[in-house]
Formats: sequence, C-alpha cells, structure tokens
Amino acid sequence: MGVRQLSGCDGWRGACQAGGVTIIDALRALTRGERERAREVAAAGSGELDRALAAYLGSDADGTVYDQPAAFTAFIDGGGNVGLYKAVTRALARIYDEERPVRVLDVGCGDGRALVPSLVKAEHPPRHVTVVDPSEALLSGAVKALEGVKNLAVDARNTRVEEFLARDDSRFDVAQSTFALHAIPHEERDGVLAGLAPRVKSLAVVEFDVPDLDDEERLEFLAETYERGLAEYDEDRELVAQGFLMPVLTGQLLPGAKRSTWEQPATSWAAQVGRAGFGDVRLTPLFDYWSSPAFLLTASGTA
Ligand SMILES: C[S@@+](CC[C@H](N)C(=O)[O-])C[C@H]1O[C@@H](n2cnc3c(N)ncnc32)[C@H](O)[C@@H]1O
Repeated sequence: MGVRQLSGCDGWRGACQAGGVTIIDALRALTRGERERAREVAAAGSGELDRALAAYLGSDADGTVYDQPAAFTAFIDGGGNVGLYKAVTRALARIYDEERPVRVLDVGCGDGRALVPSLVKAEHPPRHVTVVDPSEALLSGAVKALEGVKNLAVDARNTRVEEFLARDDSRFDVAQSTFALHAIPHEERDGVLAGLAPRVKSLAVVEFDVPDLDDEERLEFLAETYERGLAEYDEDRELVAQGFLMPVLTGQLLPGAKRSTWEQPATSWAAQVGRAGFGDVRLTPLFDYWSSPAFLLTASGTA
C-alpha cells in the first residue's frame, strides 16, 4: 500500500521522531493498552496527528464520542463531509428522477442529512418514505426535517432494520442506505440484504471502499488517513480532533474497544449484495473522502 510521508519523517517506516519512533509506534502502543507510552511517542512528533493524539491522551477524556455534541456537529458540518453529502444528495436525487419511485425505504436514516436534501433536490421525489433507525434522537431529527418536505407521507420506525424486516412485509420501489449498513455485522447484514431483495425493486447503498488490511497495514492506514482528516479542518481542528476524531481513533485501537463498524472493500459489498439475491449490481465512485473513497452501489431487487 502506498503511504505518504509525514512531516518530519524520512519515510514511513523510517526514523522519524526522537529515538527513531513514529506515530505508528504510538498507535501500536495503544493496541497494547499502553496509553502513557503512546502519549510520549506522539508528544515527540511534529505532525498534526502527533499533536492531537498527545493532547488527547494527556487529557482526562474518557473516550465518549458524543460528550461534546459541538465537536461532532463541527466534524459532520465541515471538512470533506460537505462535499461528501453533496455527492450523496446528487446521486440519490438522480435515482429518484430516473426511477420515479412512489415508496422509498431509508435504512439507518440518521437525522436525514442525506435523505432530506435529496428529496428536495429531486424533480420526481417519492410520495412515501419509511425511515428506520434505532437512534431515537437521530430519527426524531429526521422526522422533524421531513416535516418541511411538501407532499410527503412519512412512516418512522424507531427500530433496527433487522426487527423492521422481521415484523413488516411492505414493498418499496427503492430501498436506500447511506453509511448505515456498515453498522451491522457482516453475517447479520447477509440476512438484512436477503430480507430486502424480494421486497424492493431497486437498492441504492452508499458506503466507503475500505481496504482489507492486516494489523500492521491498518496502523499505517489509520496514521495516514487521520493526518489527512485533521488537515481538512482549520478553525475547528482542535474541537473536532479532541471531541470526535481522537476518541474514535483511540476507541478502535485500545484493547477491549467495542466494535461498531464492519467495513469492507467495495467489491466485497458488491459480492455480498449479489449473494443476497440482488441482480445487476453496479459500483460507481462517488467522492474521495479522507478516510476512504465513498461509492454508490445500485442493484435490482426481485419485487
Ligand atoms: C453514520 S449514520 C448515517 C446516517 C444517515 N444515513 C446519513 O447518511 O447521514 C449510521 C446510522 O445507522 C443507524 N443504525 C445503526 N445500526 C442500525 C441497524 N441495525 N438498523 C438500522 N439503522 C442502524 C444509526 O443509528 C445511525 O443513524
């Protein structure tokens, strides 16, 4: 895997910080649960990630990501997320205009950040949307935002899609899901996709094309991408780093961290959707996001 040189480094694996250690060593120390060692190594470095990680590990933050809602808001409203959501909105609106669906299902709609602007942008938006999300707070945000969309009937289900599919046999012209199916473990997702295939005419999924890496490559990948992610924020960098990106980064490395995402390469997504009974599976690059490129997957169901 090609990796970019970090500030102050001779090469990725080469000598870099005092004592010849690199940010990778700091991340590796975290995987061993050596928080103080990780802080010391990061503090000796000069990259943005070194600085942010050292400050975070030196603070009394307990790893809670949503401690500071302002940090998540600054993150999601800024940096590459602006272009990312614009690209998602364009892609979904185009699907509505081409397919002219009457009924749309949004799996894991969150606060409607992708759905609502797509409905507004499309010339032929659906008349019914069913939104499914287990987060009460996010779902109620989506419902509120959907109230502002004209001529739309909304069916909101505060549940996981697994339970929704088990209890409901409605059919949809389009089922869409943006950055949500990765929150479901791979095998359970097989079941969700197989449950959707006979109920929908078409499927539109937006996810990140995340490479399959061994442990060491993963540390290099995280170091490179988080450095790039931090660079996308300017005035808000400190807030975003300390309140969101560093808890997310350390949370996935420290031993005992609870796994909350099951990402995979785009080709594995396509294979999984095909395995579930969908046909005509297509992948389209969508946006070159800092952590991994986003893609659109479209497929035909059997409804
Ligand atoms: C990263 S957010 C994406 C939200 C929205 N689709 C967007 O593009 O902004 C992931 C969403 O998936 C939801 N989610 C997690 N597990 C889920 C499940 N089993 N069924 C349905 N939604 C789920 C979360 O509550 C969260 O709202």
